[in-house]
Amino acid sequence: MTQDEMKKAAAWAALDYVTPGCIVGVGTGSTVNHFIDALGSIKEQITGAVSSSEASTAKLKALGIRIFDLNDISEFDVYVDGADEIDGSMAMIKGGGAALTREKIVAAVAKCFVCIVDETKTVEVMGAFPLPVEVIPMARAYVARELAKLGGTPVYREGVVTDNGNHILDVHGLTITAPRELETQINAVVGVVTNGLFAARGADVLVIGIPDGVKKYTA
Ligand code: 5RP
Repeated sequence: MTQDEMKKAAAWAALDYVTPGCIVGVGTGSTVNHFIDALGSIKEQITGAVSSSEASTAKLKALGIRIFDLNDISEFDVYVDGADEIDGSMAMIKGGGAALTREKIVAAVAKCFVCIVDETKTVEVMGAFPLPVEVIPMARAYVARELAKLGGTPVYREGVVTDNGNHILDVHGLTITAPRELETQINAVVGVVTNGLFAARGADVLVIGIPDGVKKYTA
């Protein structure tokens, strides 16, 4: 299987966690795009979706899936999203697609986070993938200096404006052995909107696409 076929296998396997009549939280990215296609195949069985990005919203709407405003929902059962890296404690780096803030908000409301990845995303220690940090534009240089003090090398993702109108710094060179602590530390820097560490709220279920199928793990 190619990497994309492994993403697709994981995405379709995530339908096992979608129950009839539910509202589904939907992440962002190429793996989630396969999941949205899968959701389209059972769209009559679900009530609708809460989306984490304008891109996913457009794809869901094009398939005729009803979009709900998160403010109108107190809770829902399952959030399905990809990751850039995931470690053995089910902590993740996300935000390669710059949708980290809305993803973290939707994930916070969901009862269960199902992470769908191909096998290249599983790691012992996170940090090889640069950690995305969404920042208020006027704070970008200040936040970059503060992130450098934590030992990383922040790089401005030029030309990218998030769905929230903000900028992204990608922090290279981190070895993330204490993801929860680093998530809290970075979020405490003034001007940071969110960072791409999903450790305080990690995944509950991991579905990995592998060359001969899928593997599933529950936290
Ligand atoms: C977007 C994300 C994605 O889930 C992450 O980048 C993985 O993307 P892909 O499925 O395309 O590999 O966090 O902000």
